[in-house]
Amino acid sequence: MDTYILGIETSCDETSMSVVKNGIDEIATIVLTQIDVHKMFGGVVPEIASRMHIENITIVLEELLDKAKIKVDDITAIAVTYGPGLIGSLLIGVECAKTLSYIYKKPLIPIHHIAGHIYANAIGNKMEFPLIALVVSGGHTELIYMKEDYSFERIGGTLDDAVGESYDKVARVLELEYPGGPKIDVLSKIGKDTYTLPTPLDDSSYNFSFSGIKSAVINLVHNEKQRGNDIRKADLACSFQNRVVGILTKKTKRALKEYHVENLIIAGGVAANKVLRESITQMCEEENIKLNIPALSYCTDNATMIATAGFYAYKKGRSADLTLNAKANDILK
Ligand code: KG4
Ligand code: ZN
Repeated sequence: MDTYILGIETSCDETSMSVVKNGIDEIATIVLTQIDVHKMFGGVVPEIASRMHIENITIVLEELLDKAKIKVDDITAIAVTYGPGLIGSLLIGVECAKTLSYIYKKPLIPIHHIAGHIYANAIGNKMEFPLIALVVSGGHTELIYMKEDYSFERIGGTLDDAVGESYDKVARVLELEYPGGPKIDVLSKIGKDTYTLPTPLDDSSYNFSFSGIKSAVINLVHNEKQRGNDIRKADLACSFQNRVVGILTKKTKRALKEYHVENLIIAGGVAANKVLRESITQMCEEENIKLNIPALSYCTDNATMIATAGFYAYKKGRSADLTLNAKANDILK
């Protein structure tokens, strides 16, 4: 019998729902982004984000059921991002999932947001194990070892800013619009790596630290402005990006070697970055590693990845009762 999972994602500024069949076939997805509103404030305003989720969630549900040509009665289980993320935003998705689960008597499956990003690689594709996952987003920078489906061992992560967060903050000081990551990506293409910047944490661990390089860029821009000098924005974007991509590629390569793994997946919003994709692809070609990267539209937040992860979590018997609560912070287990 076919398994239909309804996925719900509201951890940040996207209200998204999706129906996925048997953990691989996307039946329909709706992603309603609030970016145009938050742009005016230079970043996500949590209070506005949760209010917009409340306004949009039933509309998104109705549109999704319409598009997927399915009734909630025909759904097998409901998967929802319970954390980590903005608490007010998460709560809207969790309450919606609990309500549907209660009314329609469907199993409720809690999904960790990072597990969702990882399973973006399983949309229309079968993941091969063991694998290393590099998750790079606005809220996370994590290296995860997976021995098999839905088993996660965190081997390292950021000690301070997430990589996407540092992209966004550097973009802000360069007067680029939110979200700045894609803008830096484009701008760096016409720039040269001419600025001297510190290399982010280059030690024997699998941890990352991006606050040093972020602060170095911010200080550099302020100092140059005070001296009345022009900033070569494209060159600075390129120099910053090269340091960041360099360390992500280097530590990922070492993890693959030390864990004797031949499969790599990358996921999260920053996995959309062209230079990171190129650098990781080249490393994988040199090292004979099989690489999987989700299609661009599945890199940033969406519910297709939550429904896909939900299928594997459901198969592993992971479920929650109606006491499920949203968690702003939680370790992926
Ligand atoms: O995964 P995501 O949609 O949300 C979180 O879970 O955080 O990631 C959003 C982040 C933002 O920081 C955004 O600037 C970054 O991903 N991002 C990029 C690119 N596209 C999105 N960063 C660098 N290059 C890109 N092309
Ligand atoms: Zn995300």
